[in-house]
Amino acid sequence: MKIAVAGTGYVGLVTGVCLASKGHDVTCVDIDEAKVGLMKQGISPIYEPGLSELMQESMGNLTFTTNAASAYEDAEVIFIGVGTPEKQDGSANLSYVYEVAKEIAISAKRDCVVVVKSTVPIGTNDKIEAYIHDKQKHNVKIYVASNPEFLAQGSAVRDTLHASRIVIGTEDEYPKEVLLKVYEKFDAPKLTVGRRSAEMIKYASNDFLALKISYVNEIANLCEGVGADIEEVTDGMGYDSRIGNKFLNAGIGYGGSCFPKDTKALSWLAQFNDKEIRTIRAAIEVNEGQKFRLIKKAKKYYEDFLFLNIAILGCTFKPGTDDLREAPSLVNVPLLLEDGAKLRIWDPVGMENFKKKVGEKNIQYCTSIEEALKDADLCFIFTEWDEVKNMDVNLYKTLMKCPIVLDGRNCYSLDKFENTGITYGSIGRRTVNDIE
Ligand code: UDX
Repeated sequence: MKIAVAGTGYVGLVTGVCLASKGHDVTCVDIDEAKVGLMKQGISPIYEPGLSELMQESMGNLTFTTNAASAYEDAEVIFIGVGTPEKQDGSANLSYVYEVAKEIAISAKRDCVVVVKSTVPIGTNDKIEAYIHDKQKHNVKIYVASNPEFLAQGSAVRDTLHASRIVIGTEDEYPKEVLLKVYEKFDAPKLTVGRRSAEMIKYASNDFLALKISYVNEIANLCEGVGADIEEVTDGMGYDSRIGNKFLNAGIGYGGSCFPKDTKALSWLAQFNDKEIRTIRAAIEVNEGQKFRLIKKAKKYYEDFLFLNIAILGCTFKPGTDDLREAPSLVNVPLLLEDGAKLRIWDPVGMENFKKKVGEKNIQYCTSIEEALKDADLCFIFTEWDEVKNMDVNLYKTLMKCPIVLDGRNCYSLDKFENTGITYGSIGRRTVNDIE
């Protein structure tokens, strides 16, 4: 099928490449000339495991362009995968989605289905359809269907090729048939639901996961107070299939491009409809506090951080990505710098982006974990990279001036630190070799 994809971020590019890999003729559109130039050479502008390889294998079915009109005029299906960032009031900024909708209305010269993949507030698909019909130039039938995206960064290709489910939101037969054909070769359960339900499935799913994490984080904080161990607790909870054993990892809070934005957007949407969604509001509040959990713990060892050498392991919001959006490191590092600390940061892929955001003053960017730990008075772990999880923990002792390790992602089992002389604090578990 002839498919156009608007936007080449995590959602758009991964969707385009995966569809091309299944034999569709896909044109990816982006306004950024430099990005399009890279992609034309088969280079992915984002770091995502497996994406470059699949892109190169599928180049025969892929075209990249900044010329939106040429891509939309004869496409049978047009996916919208542009961003819907958070506005100041927490609501979703839909201006990029509408820009694409406008371009489609002007350009489409054949019957087509516009598929909204971007996460949009409930009711937006209806509005986009009305908007396109109002602005439409040529006498063709343009349908709008919702097809929310559930991919997670770091596993985006796998999540798309082997999706947990493909949700098709439409009230009409034609877009349903077209989308079932688009996804014919995808081995995943396919659900057809109303358009508004599809939009809600996306928010309700993401927000439920965020809620689950905030809940576990609060239980973890309580575990510390009452002498229980969160790993043992979540292990015990996970055996109940109604609860499940996934997304129960306690830590210094969720980040990324979805959970923070989508929880705020749903909360905003509820308020806008004179409703309250208190559970989600609580999840947001808990997450904001959780991000400072390690700094609070550190205050037990150092009254302030003036002139301290602090090692930071990991700065991305999770491993497997160079994305820093809403990463806990981004709120913690400025606080440490403000307090006069000298930082040594290591991250396998996130440092370039971090440098652009936070700068270099009082920060040394390190190419190895060893370099970051050298002579440190304290070490914070913000991301559970494999390199951190698999390293010999004795390095904390041999390299640091004062071996105090505060781990925001529970990278190690506690017994690794017994009798090492390393003070190891984590989330929801007792501190090993604590200094009284
Ligand atoms: C998420 C959803 O998983 C995905 O389905 C949706 O389409 C987009 O949002 P993503 O943001 O890429 O994907 O990452 P995810 O793996 O879900 O992690 C989000 C954040 O939650 C990370 O900061 C991670 O560290 C944190 N997290 C996750 C926890 O703190 N504990 C967990 O148990 C799981």
